[in-house]
Formats: sequence, C-alpha cells, structure tokens
Amino acid sequence: MDDALLSVEGLEIRFGGLVALQSVSFAARRGDITAVIGPNGAGKTTLFNCVTGMYTPSAGSIAFAGKELTRLKPFEIARLGIARTFQNLALFEGLSILENLMMGAYGRGHSGLLEGMVRSRRAVREEQETRARALEMLALLGISDLADKRPGELPYGAQKRVEFGRVLMQDAKLILLDEPMAGMNAAEKDELVALIRRIRSTLGVSFLLVEHDMPVVMDVSDHIVVLDFGRKIAEGAPEAVRRNEAVIAAYLGADAPEEALHGMPGAAA
Ligand SMILES: Nc1ncnc2c1ncn2[C@@H]1O[C@H](COP(=O)(O)OP(=O)(O)OP(=O)(O)O)[C@@H](O)[C@H]1O
Ligand SMILES: [Mg+2]
Repeated sequence: MDDALLSVEGLEIRFGGLVALQSVSFAARRGDITAVIGPNGAGKTTLFNCVTGMYTPSAGSIAFAGKELTRLKPFEIARLGIARTFQNLALFEGLSILENLMMGAYGRGHSGLLEGMVRSRRAVREEQETRARALEMLALLGISDLADKRPGELPYGAQKRVEFGRVLMQDAKLILLDEPMAGMNAAEKDELVALIRRIRSTLGVSFLLVEHDMPVVMDVSDHIVVLDFGRKIAEGAPEAVRRNEAVIAAYLGADAPEEALHGMPGAAA
C-alpha cells in the first residue's frame, strides 16, 4: 500500500514573470508531521495555497489519498479532508470561544439553511452534535474553562489554540499549519508542540507544517522539505537536513531573520 497521503509532482506556479514554485516534488506520509521550511519568499505559503485550491498551479499535480486536487475548488478540497490555519490569526470577536469552534464545523452538516431556519429536528440534532464535539475539542486543547470567553479576552497562545480547535472541527485528515509558532513565547511553543503530537495520536491527523523556528521544526518533524526561491533544495530526516550544505547556504545567504538562523549549524555567532 502506498503510504503517501499527499503527493506533489512537478508543481509549478507563476505570477507574471515570477516563478514562485518550480518542479517541486515531494510526498507527505500518512501519520507524519512533514515540515516545509525555507527563507522568506521561498514559496511555502504559495505551496499551501496550491494544496488548498486557492491558487491553480501552472503545471504539475497534487494528489491527496490518490485523488487529484489541482482542478478542484477550495470547498471540494476541504470536504476531502484538508484544512488549514492562516499565517495571521482570524477569529470571530463577536462570538464566544465555544461558538468560534462551532463555526469551524460549518459546511459539514447536512441540513440546509432553510431547514435550519425552521429548526427541523435534524438541524437541532446537528447543532447539539456540533456543540458536543466543540466541547470535546476544547477539552483536548486543554481550554474547556475558556468556552464562554471572547477571543479578545485570551492571551495570544490561547487564541492560537482556539484557531487550532476551529480547524479540528472540520474533521480533517491533513492539517496545514502556516507558522503556528509565530509570536509565541517559549512556553507557548512547547505547549503547541505537545498539542500537535497529542492531536496526531488521538485523532490520527497528519500535518504539513510551515515554520521558521528551527529548534521546533527539528524536534517535531518526521520529514523536512526545504524550499529556496521556489525550488526544492533538500529533503529528508531532520538530522540529514540540518547537516545539508545547500540548506545551510540558503539560510546563511538569505536575509533570514535571526530566529530563522537559530538552531541551524554554523549559525551561532
Ligand atoms: N498572489 C501573488 N501574486 C504575486 N506574487 C505572489 C503571490 N503570492 C505569492 N507571491 C510571490 O511568490 C513568492 C513566494 O511567496 P510566499 O508567500 O509563498 O513565500 P513564503 O515562503 O511563504 O515566505 P514567508 O516565509 O515570508 O511567509 C514571493 O516572491 C511572493 O511575493
Ligand atoms: Mg509564508
């Protein structure tokens, strides 16, 4: 059996004259935490946008559990079981934490809008199920006590958990995290790493992770894909990638922020 959950083959996308991704191929295995790293502008978020159907590649293919994604719409891809967080946090300030999670399940129910308005028995039951699942996810995230709070009342690390919870409500099999550690302190990062692992073991979710924090990436990843100027320059186990000459050169040569260099060999000054 092919254990590749996501297979990217010869992926290319151009924006006018700029080739943002070129001949990118890699596979993310089922059950793995696969990291995509590289300097700013390498094409990491663009890759996520291709996988989620927000961008249409100019060439290449992306297969998820054997099904070709490149001609599907974002909602169709989401329905197949791919969910993502964004580089910038986006929670509904007018809703409680519990309601924010329940919103994540929107689109997964079967009762339509009209049916919802007349409060059919099915719609009521679905709402109860969604509420129960949201409470379950809050418990898994360790923030049950925050259910009735508003996002603005929470520290940043807790807000990121809520965003994570909303993604979990989509019942995804593959979750794409774009710089989940950005803006977090060391304790919040440790908690998030533990959480990602717990979600993988509890819910059987696989992850594709874009992250600049090298110690975190080296610690949490099973497999790392390195992009630079839209091309894959290396991939492999954390130890091999850490020692890879092309990777070291890409990080030291680019205008990489200090934290991007931290943890890379030869980077300590
Ligand atoms: N919609 C777009 N139109 C034009 N150019 C784009 C578009 N999206 C991305 N790009 C360009 O593609 C390149 C890759 O950008 P991308 O956002 O994927 O980088 P990244 O690796 O996520 O960087 P960062 O680490 O800073 O988030 C950049 O040169 C960017 O300006
Ligand atoms: Mg990005």
